[in-house]
Amino acid sequence: MPDALEPDVHVMGKRLMWSQNAFTDRLNLKWPILQAPMGSLSTPALAAAVSNAGGLGGLGMWGFSAEDAERRIAGFQQLSGGSLNVNYPLWPEPRFTPDVSGPMRARLQAHFDAKGLGAVPEPKGAAGEVSHEHLSMLMRAKPQMVSFHFGLPHQEVINAIKDAGIFIISSATTVAEARMLEQRGVDAIIAQGIEAGGHRGTFTGVDVSMQPGLFALLPQVVDVVRVPVIAAGGVADGRTVAAAFVLGASAVQLGTAFLRCEEANVLDAHRAALREPTDACTVVTDLITGRPARYVKTGLIDDLVASELRPVPFPGQLSLTAPLGGTGDRELTALFAGQSAALASDTTAGALVEQLAEATSECLRVFSRS
Ligand SMILES: Cc1cc2nc3c(=O)[nH]c(=O)nc-3n(C[C@H](O)[C@H](O)[C@H](O)COP(=O)(O)O)c2cc1C
Repeated sequence: MPDALEPDVHVMGKRLMWSQNAFTDRLNLKWPILQAPMGSLSTPALAAAVSNAGGLGGLGMWGFSAEDAERRIAGFQQLSGGSLNVNYPLWPEPRFTPDVSGPMRARLQAHFDAKGLGAVPEPKGAAGEVSHEHLSMLMRAKPQMVSFHFGLPHQEVINAIKDAGIFIISSATTVAEARMLEQRGVDAIIAQGIEAGGHRGTFTGVDVSMQPGLFALLPQVVDVVRVPVIAAGGVADGRTVAAAFVLGASAVQLGTAFLRCEEANVLDAHRAALREPTDACTVVTDLITGRPARYVKTGLIDDLVASELRPVPFPGQLSLTAPLGGTGDRELTALFAGQSAALASDTTAGALVEQLAEATSECLRVFSRS
């Protein structure tokens, strides 16, 4: 690590080494910059480009069989010899009841009719878990990191992954959740501020209107846990990365900014929306998938909010709304995005990591001179 890129910054009397710390040492990273695993939107090419640039690439395994997950990891490994984060969102088996799904299906029928999609299907969806097949696959593939969203799996699964020498992380949206994750044995914690795009990682059902922004959450989590903290939510350029490190982060995780990279698997309507966001164009709602997530606001969201209906339990609601996104109509598409979407631009993943690294160092250099 050349000294020129590690500015001599002191925060509260301590030297701030933003680019090299215990977290980067353990995961063999040049830069403490994580590309968020984002289900099928995160491709092996995206993750590999990030890791090749010295960051940590991530692959979301939501909805993939163990065989397909292993193929995705092999795809990454063909393109990169760097570290990899493999991600599992976790949720219980949904129970669908006609009193909830009936009115919701009836409301969506008008949208289906307008697009000639036929009858709204019955909701479907199974539990999100680390199955025996996935666990065996992880033991073979041995990614450097396994991350979770919506909590943690059973302790035996955690122990097996840790015993294999794999680093474990998960998201917290409050200080209480961060404490719970640390008690369960995670190696690092993602502090996910309310600004974040995609699903809220809460696993204690915290009211969305009470979940803190990253500026409030991050230093409070850093104060109470001993493990490294990864800042997520609204981090999108050198200034926001630098701010996260000044607030005590050991790394940052960006999702929305990586959606603008050409290696990401993003629908055309979604890409178009990401090119013209504002600071105030997004909303958190559970009406698209059944769990709260942040999106660019659309006509579909407006209509479902106006209906005052409850969503079908996650991920059943997504099985109802996903066909609408397949029509290419932007107003019917799930336009996942965070509040800093306007800070991002079209680029490649390697260029984004390098630009973030350089801009962060420059920002901290200016800060240290003033
Ligand atoms: C399209 C999209 C999909 C996401 N999917 C996942 C996921 O599958 N697992 C996960 O742990 N986090 C997921 N996230 C959340 C990110 O991990 C992260 O918290 C968030 O992107 C950070 O905020 P930002 O979007 O403002 O950078 C997703 C985010 C986006 C934007």
